[in-house]
Amino acid sequence: MWLSFRNKDKEAFSSEGIDIERLPQHIAIIMDGNGRWAKRRGLPRSMGHRAGVEALRDIVKTCSNLGVKVLTLYAFSTENWRRPKEEVGVLMTLLTDYLRRELNELHENQVNIRTLGDITYLPLDAQKELAKSVARTRNNPGLILNLALNYGGRAELTRAFQKIAEEVEQGKKLPREINEELISSHLFTAGLPDPDLLIRTSGEMRLSNFMLWQLAYTEIVVLEQFWPDFNPKALLDAIREYQQRDRRFGGLKKE
Ligand code: FPP
Repeated sequence: MWLSFRNKDKEAFSSEGIDIERLPQHIAIIMDGNGRWAKRRGLPRSMGHRAGVEALRDIVKTCSNLGVKVLTLYAFSTENWRRPKEEVGVLMTLLTDYLRRELNELHENQVNIRTLGDITYLPLDAQKELAKSVARTRNNPGLILNLALNYGGRAELTRAFQKIAEEVEQGKKLPREINEELISSHLFTAGLPDPDLLIRTSGEMRLSNFMLWQLAYTEIVVLEQFWPDFNPKALLDAIREYQQRDRRFGGLKKE
């Protein structure tokens, strides 16, 4: 079990210069560059996505071992439907296979699988596997693994505002009771802390419609490497960089 390595890992992580007491509670990742990774090697894009899943497996394990509370992975955006049908199919199959293959181990390691986004648009196979994974791991106290699927930040906010408007219309809420807390509680991430650290691989300096509300004060680390090349060592580097940042949340530096 991954968790049995926990104490040993803690020492190892500390010796790597990671302050285990000041870990980011919530890490969000934009896993970009699978296509370019494949192209560099003269391989089809699907091979890049396949290699991307292998990277993802290791990162989930490392976050679980570290004791990170929440890991959110941008696996499929509302805009990704614009890709060729075959590529969308490959991504959905990879997701379904990943869950089929990994669910037992994730469950044994107390991982709590959740989804962000409207997954009713996904192929039935994928929906079934997700429902099974979410239900089976529901009460697990370990790493919360949020899979963002058919997810878009604007769509998430629109959905939240519609729900709030309905509550106002039904007289359950007054317009003046709409505040940041209420909006947060209507997002897919309700009840979770906002990401402390956002990692984006493959160099692009944009948010690509990811967690637009939740990322307001998140520290961003953009790496040049493509997602399939991202590994636990690169994750520890990103965490080390995060730990060197001075987070002020709009205030002044503490003296
Ligand atoms: C970006 O690479 C990556 C994606 C659009 C999807 C990420 C998905 C996976 C890693 C695998 C499937 C997910 C799960 C949860 C098992 P890109 O294709 O945009 O790369 P490019 O910008 O180089 O073309």
